Amino acid sequence: MNSLPTSDALLDWYDRHARTLPWRTSPEDRRLGVVPDPYSVWLSEIMLQQTTVAAVKDYYVKFLALWPRVEDLAAADTEDVMKAWAGLGYYSRARNLKKCAEQVAFELGGRFPETEEGLQSLPGIGPYTAAAISAIAFNHHAAVVDGNVERVLSRLHEITTPLPDAKPAIREAMDALTPNDRPGDFAQAVMDLGATICTPKRPACALCPWMTECKSQSSGLAETLPRKAPK
Ligand code: ADE
Repeated sequence: MNSLPTSDALLDWYDRHARTLPWRTSPEDRRLGVVPDPYSVWLSEIMLQQTTVAAVKDYYVKFLALWPRVEDLAAADTEDVMKAWAGLGYYSRARNLKKCAEQVAFELGGRFPETEEGLQSLPGIGPYTAAAISAIAFNHHAAVVDGNVERVLSRLHEITTPLPDAKPAIREAMDALTPNDRPGDFAQAVMDLGATICTPKRPACALCPWMTECKSQSSGLAETLPRKAPK
């Protein structure tokens, strides 16, 4: 019998192995419960939509240097923002970024909404990004599900239903595992696990903090999950 996976085991792994990324606070700050500011979380999550971590890093650093606060981005020339975005692709993201900054700075007193619902009312913020910002910047219990999370959880619980039909079960599993304290760190821990250990091919199960609890590791199905419905 497998024992049940815990968020504590993964958070403990994250405290030792989290990727160092410019939008994250330091390991010391994380242990003290310090969360990054909403503007930097929002900026990074918009850039990370459809784009890899490696491609985003330098753009993120450049944007924060040019426009350190949401008010600075709101007051910027749209053309300068589009120029700074050049190369990242999906340019509607940059137009929505500017619109969203204006709304937050000029209509919401410079403060991002905390809830998923409030965040989703802003330009460019869909369900995934709203959950990520709510969890990471505000410590709200939001289930953050991206492709990495789908892979990790479908393997952990051996969910063999093909995607997209498996999505509700995966969301439910993420919701049930997400802790009330450090929900943002937990979401990012699952992402890091998916990016570095629970990889699409040849997952490094021996290094996984959830190895003994992982149903598909013991059955040998891990690498075949998640299944995808034929197009
Ligand atoms: N992909 C999307 N959001 C991310 C985050 N906060 N950390 C790592 N990868 C991500």
